[in-house]
Amino acid sequence: MKKMNKFNLFFVLLFAFAITACDNNNNGDPLEPFANNNDRIPLMEDYDGPLFELSFNYPRIMPPTPVNPPWQQAIGGGEITVENAHDFVLALKDLIEEDMRVLIFDYANWNAEQRGWYNQPWLADIREAIYGTYEGSEFPADTFEASGLTVDMTTHVLTFYDELSAFTVGNVWGVDALNPDLEEGQAQFKEGAVIIKLAFQTASPEQWPVIEGAASVPLFLDPNDTGLSTVTDTWLFQLDIIVKDSIASPDTTWVFTTLVYDQDAEGDAWDKMVPLGAMWGNDPDINSAVDDSPLQENWINPDAPPYSTATLGWGGRLSGPNDGAVASPAVVDGETIQNVPASSCMSCHGVAEYELESFLLPSPSDPEGTDMPTVDSDGNLVLFTPGSDDWNRWFQSRPGDEPQEAGLIPLDYDMVFAFKSLPSWSQATGLTEVDGRDRPYTGLEPLTIINRIQRTYNGMFE
Ligand code: HEC
Repeated sequence: MKKMNKFNLFFVLLFAFAITACDNNNNGDPLEPFANNNDRIPLMEDYDGPLFELSFNYPRIMPPTPVNPPWQQAIGGGEITVENAHDFVLALKDLIEEDMRVLIFDYANWNAEQRGWYNQPWLADIREAIYGTYEGSEFPADTFEASGLTVDMTTHVLTFYDELSAFTVGNVWGVDALNPDLEEGQAQFKEGAVIIKLAFQTASPEQWPVIEGAASVPLFLDPNDTGLSTVTDTWLFQLDIIVKDSIASPDTTWVFTTLVYDQDAEGDAWDKMVPLGAMWGNDPDINSAVDDSPLQENWINPDAPPYSTATLGWGGRLSGPNDGAVASPAVVDGETIQNVPASSCMSCHGVAEYELESFLLPSPSDPEGTDMPTVDSDGNLVLFTPGSDDWNRWFQSRPGDEPQEAGLIPLDYDMVFAFKSLPSWSQATGLTEVDGRDRPYTGLEPLTIINRIQRTYNGMFE
């Protein structure tokens, strides 16, 4: 398993996807888009708390657009800047505080739908039963060696859409989620939409001291894929909050923010989730290969804990410790290099389109027209030259209704649609029509996607 660590981001993202595909075969009904979990339920004697219930009763009438919402008030109603971004992030944190405290400290009283939070369908096969998380990434111990991580750790993530963003999720999926509608604009989120993603990780405070005091929740995990899950403690270490706001962010219409756990901050485990940063564009005017001018569309909190800034993206653009923006190793101009910051929140999310025809990181597609990257004979990811025209396609500041690749359907930066729920739907149903036109996923029979992923996986990590 050692080599797997070479390129954990790619491995894990594809691996999670491969699991979706494989599990379809042995689970009850693969055509049950709104199932809660992978059918593995803990025994009462091991866990007697509440289980995850998929919240899918999406609003069918558009909820009102927020007027003068708190995050805009926090910056005086204008554009977000590196000077005011901290206040913007704190306002978003305040907005979700009450709900998040119930979710992480008082789970018995959590009811997602009552609180106006929703999830995407088609992911039951990869969701564990307790919180409904699925695997995010695997990180070898040496990724966070400097902050004392002594074991490989795995992250498990959970995404919630607020009422406004869930309205769009409902528009795409309809009532039965069998025929997604991506006709002009259906996948575009409304002004004021908020989406959050929590990331829990498996290393204990003894194994990773920076986690001491973080909020801990049990998940029902099967790390070695043995077929037997166990109730496992995990710790909340990253929380993303993104908001669609074309006043604060006229170029991209989104602000991406993230909080990380900081044991040195004041207060309890919630208070200690501090801003790592915010970004509202990819700073396309600053070519970080040759120009180290301070970024203008990215703000990084100078007080963020060091473990969390070790994994920032290209030229210091925002990315969190859970996000895999650093490729290691990667091949750049024929040379194999450790730790190449090659992404950012909005760079990676910028390829959210249907179907995915670009890899998440700036690599030439192989085969062309797919989301498979180029790898060399050692299985290392080959990147475009940082700062080149090709590379820069991943670092634009584009609104979410313009696709990165001409002719594809833009999915407004939403990677759950692009990378998870739509591909899962297509695999489970064998259907491919999304906007009145047939758009087969990668042009292959859906089931061969599994083989393709398996093949890539085998070739890359054997
Ligand atoms: C290298 C790729 C990559 C980077 C970097 C990245 N993400 Fe994501 N993100 C994904 C993928 C893939 C998903 C969908 C799978 C999942 O649910 O984890 C996702 C899902 C999300 C979601 C759920 C809603 C959605 O848009 O799909 C949010 C919110 C999110 N990410 C925020 C962030 C923020 C904030 C950052 C930066 C701090 C970030 N991401 C960095 C790949 C990335």
